[in-house]
Amino acid sequence: MSDGTLNILVLHGPNLNLLGFREPEIYGKTSLDEINQELMRIGRERSVDVKCFQSNHEGQLVDWVHEYRLWADGIILNPGALTHYGLSLLDALLAVKKPVIEVHLSNIYAREEWRRTSVISQACKGIIAGFGKDGYFMALKELIHLLRR
Ligand code: DQA
Repeated sequence: MSDGTLNILVLHGPNLNLLGFREPEIYGKTSLDEINQELMRIGRERSVDVKCFQSNHEGQLVDWVHEYRLWADGIILNPGALTHYGLSLLDALLAVKKPVIEVHLSNIYAREEWRRTSVISQACKGIIAGFGKDGYFMALKELIHLLRR
């Protein structure tokens, strides 16, 4: 935030590249690209630089957390299935000590037993789950609010 502009890193985990096609009754009909475009639009409206990345590989997500640790003021993360077992991603978030908001399109607490545990949440300021794509937009607005107050 060197010049007063906020920088927010948005990370999407495994299988989220298939949004729109993948189980639309659970994850919605909107593509990841449309979600990212809207996040960047909301960012521009508020003078916030938003960078979005997706990977199917935990190590790549860890690398981005490291690489952007000096750039990012905060992180929005949908870890996909890594939510439930991604301990190296958890460690990366604990290491960089940024405010993180965990987002899930579906309500993971109303689904299968194995989805009801998040190993990532302990590194997060908060979680938004069950509001579909709107959860990302809520997270971005809340993170901006949090960083500016
Ligand atoms: C998800 C929920 C996870 O359990 C699942 O593995 C995903 C998507 C969600 O956004 O609802 O890939 O994170």
